[in-house]
This record gives sequence, structure tokens and C-alpha cells, in this order.
Amino acid sequence: MTTTLEPGSRILSGMRPTGRIHLGHYHGVLKNWINLQHEHECFFFVADWHALTTHYEDPRDLQTHIREMVVDWLAAGIDPGRACLFVQSQVPEHAELHLLLSMMTPNGWLERVPSYKDQQAKLKEKDLSTYGFLGYPLLQSADILLYKADAVPVGEDQVAHVELTREVARRFNFLYGREPGFEEKAEAAVDKMGKKNAKLYRNQRKAWQEQGDEGALDIAKALVENQQNLTLADKDRLLGYLEGGGRIILVEPEAALTEAAKMPGLDGQKMSKSYGNTISLRDTTEEVEQKVRRMPTDPARVRRDDPGTPEKCPVWELHKVYSDEERQEWVQKGCTSAGIGCIDCKMPVIEAMEKELAPMRQRAQEFDAQPDLVQSIIEEGNERAREQARDTLREVRAVMGLV
Ligand code: TRP
Ligand code: SF4
Repeated sequence: MTTTLEPGSRILSGMRPTGRIHLGHYHGVLKNWINLQHEHECFFFVADWHALTTHYEDPRDLQTHIREMVVDWLAAGIDPGRACLFVQSQVPEHAELHLLLSMMTPNGWLERVPSYKDQQAKLKEKDLSTYGFLGYPLLQSADILLYKADAVPVGEDQVAHVELTREVARRFNFLYGREPGFEEKAEAAVDKMGKKNAKLYRNQRKAWQEQGDEGALDIAKALVENQQNLTLADKDRLLGYLEGGGRIILVEPEAALTEAAKMPGLDGQKMSKSYGNTISLRDTTEEVEQKVRRMPTDPARVRRDDPGTPEKCPVWELHKVYSDEERQEWVQKGCTSAGIGCIDCKMPVIEAMEKELAPMRQRAQEFDAQPDLVQSIIEEGNERAREQARDTLREVRAVMGLV
């Protein structure tokens, strides 16, 4: 992670159910989620509506993909006792917030998101000049803002979407956080903190607003967060008053950039379903072995005694993920001197992948054998997510004139 997250921050992330989870997802995303769940309040969800924005013509496999993906998450080590797992479409508040945000989001903001034109060009065989596809990043903003998430772990390609989310939140707060009599209400809230705290708050606010002292801003924020006897609305007012704007209703999230853990695929390109170079979490021992055995190697190694260059070989990329220094040295020496053959070189990779996959495969089988258990995990997650979602929407409806 490049961002330092405070323990206890609220984290939210989603994944589109487009098929089986593969090792690219595992190394690039899931391992990170699994680490985060120990220190933070995590919400992880299946973005099934997002899947429909590009796969609307063929929804036949959607339910299967959703179930399989949740099982794969569980098998990989996402713990439903720690993280809230849910399915986007089962929390209809996402759609309502999306609709309400669409009222105040300029078209230009959506047309300018880089993935909009990129994906349309890339997926030429699909007609993506749809309303839903244009709204893709705004639906994502609704996903994030609904939970008032502090941080969103995403890859590079999603950073623009988090940036849009911040702009939407800012605009929303600007438009609807300015309740009549804001200053008076904020001042009254300051007094409710008691003499000592009120004085501290006022001094820090002054230091921030007049001298730009960030330390003072942090102290004042912490002070507000720690007030036990203030209502949520009052806390929001005090936070907004600090920054000089109105009340903060929707929280601007940070993008917690996932380290560029680009898992190489079987051909040396990034592992991705669209390149057909994946190893899935469900591949059998035999499939893994076959796939790695068939991997192309340095084309200079035509015969066993031709020396090769690991840097020109996708198998080397996998050694970088799976092998310790000693083994990597063995590859370097053996390859460049033709001391080892390519099959020798592939064996430790096959073993390492097998070691990683075997327990996951086992757990996936156990969950597959208990569909009721999986169903109840999802339903509990949906319910927990909805509680938070309902609270946010209540506030949003109220400030937008809807009761
Ligand atoms: N757009 C994301 C992707 O393609 C998936 C997603 C949907 C998401 N909603 C989200 C990710 C909210 C983070 C937060 O990977
Ligand atoms: Fe690739 Fe290993 Fe063969 Fe060298 S020995 S070409 S690194 S598989």
C-alpha cells in the first residue's frame, strides 16, 4: 500500500463477477483485502450491476458467477466474521444513491473519465454507447459514498473513478451541506463540547484556517470524532466548519493504491482472462502442471544444451513471484549455462503453485458442498451493509428535499 491507513479506517472495495477468480486476482487484489480485514472495518462486495453495464446482453451466467466468486473469496481467506461480504444488487440503496447523485453530476465529468472511451474502444464488439455504461463510474461513486468509506483499495486503472467520487462528494456537500443557519448551529455545537474542548477547537480551527497548520486540523478532527455526547449531525457540522465549507454529509475517500503486484500470466503478459493466460483458483493439480509445462520459454533454447536468458522467459517471471533468492540463482546459473532443462526449471514453480492452491481448492470444495452456508453468509452481509446504507440515504434524502 502506498497510502498509510489509520487502524480502524473504513475500507470498501468491489469486484465484478466476470468468471472464476485466478491467481492474478489473488496476488493483485485478494491478498491485500485479506491483510486489510485484520486492522480495518472492511466491506467487500460483488459488483453485479457493474457487470451488467458491459454484459447486459447475456445475463445467463450471472448468478453462477456471483456464487462462485463469493466461494473463491472465502476459500482465499476472506473472513466473514471480520469483513462484511455482500452483493451490490441486494442493497438497492446503491441504485437510489446513484440516481440522486446523477441529478447533480455534470455530463462532462463522466465523459472525461479515461476508462469511458478506452473501454468502448477496447470492447468494440459490444455496443457500449449506453446510458448505463456512461454512468459506470457514478454507480461506483455511489457504492463508495454510501458507506462513507475512508479508503478504497484499487489498482491504477480505478484511480480516476475514486477521483471522480471525491469530486462528486465535494459538490454534494457544497450544494446540500449549506443548511440555513449553518454558522449558528456550528457555533452552538462547539459550545456543547464544554468550555475546555470548545476553546481547544476554536484555537486549532484558527491555526488551520489562518496559518494552514495541518497538525492543528488533525487535532481538531480527532477532538470532534471523540465527542461522545454530540449527535452525528453536530459532528458533521463541526468537521465542515473546520474546513470552512458547510456540513460534510458524504465523505471524500482516498484511493489506497494496491502495489503494482502484477502477476505474470502463462505467456509473460499480465495475467488476465482476456489474454487466456490464467491459472484459476479451481484448476486441478493436473491442470496446473499441464499449463506450466506447456508454457513457452526463451526461444533461444531450442535444444537442451542451448543456453538461455531468463529475462526473455515467462517462467522466470513466475520464479520472481514464487522462488527465494537461492532458487532464483539456481535458475540464473542453470539457464545461462544450459546446466538445467526447461522442465527442471518449471518443476519448482509447479510445486509452489500447487502448495499455494491446494488449501484454497480444498476450502472451495467444502463451501461448494454447503450452499446454504454460503447463502446465509451473503444474506447476513447484505443485511449488515443495508444498515449502513439506510443511514446514509436517510441523510441524503433529507437534504435533497425528500422525506
Ligand atoms: N470498477 C471496479 C473494477 O472494475 C469494481 C467496482 C465497482 C469497485 N464498484 C466499486 C471497486 C467500488 C471499488 C469500489 O474493478
Ligand atoms: Fe526459461 Fe527456465 Fe528454460 Fe531458462 S531454463 S528458458 S528460465 S524455463
